[in-house]
Amino acid sequence: MAQYNESTVTRAVLDSLANCKDARFKAIMQSFISHLHAFVKEVDLTESEWSDAVKFLMDTGKSSTPNRNEFILLSDTLGVSMLVVSLAQARKSETLKGATEATEATVEGPFYWQGAPDVPLGADVSTGMPGEPALYCGRVTDIEGRPLAGALLDVWSGDGDGRYDVQLSDPPVMKGRGRLRTDSEGRYYFWSIKPTAYPVPDDLTTGVMLRRMGRKNWRPGHLHVMVSADRHVPLTTHLFVANSPHLDSDAVFAVRNSLIVDFEKQPPGKALDGRVMEKPYHVANYDFRLAPAKTA
Ligand SMILES: [Fe+2]
Repeated sequence: MAQYNESTVTRAVLDSLANCKDARFKAIMQSFISHLHAFVKEVDLTESEWSDAVKFLMDTGKSSTPNRNEFILLSDTLGVSMLVVSLAQARKSETLKGATEATEATVEGPFYWQGAPDVPLGADVSTGMPGEPALYCGRVTDIEGRPLAGALLDVWSGDGDGRYDVQLSDPPVMKGRGRLRTDSEGRYYFWSIKPTAYPVPDDLTTGVMLRRMGRKNWRPGHLHVMVSADRHVPLTTHLFVANSPHLDSDAVFAVRNSLIVDFEKQPPGKALDGRVMEKPYHVANYDFRLAPAKTA
């Protein structure tokens, strides 16, 4: 006859995985169960606290939509997303030749929206968003500096007021997003706005948690980028605006020094791509380096 109590239940749950055929899944679940039980014991969790936690997770799921995933925001603000990204990059540097020379990755965030429009080089993806205009340019290369022609950049950002399209209307209208490919020299260039610092949304469960923890919810200004090319490791990263407020206190712990970019202010006139600007604008120049997908 089984006898379950605070001393025996953890072992019993771990033993219940004896017939699990998936070794990796088994190892993950055994570790998860062990740590979860240890956590419950360490804080001497009460029934009402556990009930509150279950309701919190339920509300997080119910409030998530395809365009705003509250679970990702929760993971981001707890630093788990950045930990997973960092571990992945460290793992690649052990197994992939030259992976340490690749551009550093960072979190995807909760506002990626698959299906941004394909745009030509030089397009303005801001689609009328408020903000100071910025020309983004540079190259996509391999780790040896060889250009990657036809590399795909999928970019998105908030507007100059720090709001993403998915926060502006219901249903949302896509803005500040685009997909473009590098030319034969690996070059890319497009227009958008210079992103500003913004608070991560605090109207749902993550906000409740942050306020209760006494935390701020601000992020430094940044552009999100996914870069991919044949036979190379895809990259999800940000370009952070140099001197932006909150670079030292990012609510999702995503800043890496190598991703901080000067947005050089330029007077009105003819820009590098030939576009004539009637007001001042910024130029953000950054080269992305992708690691080869083959193992060493
Ligand atoms: Fe963002």
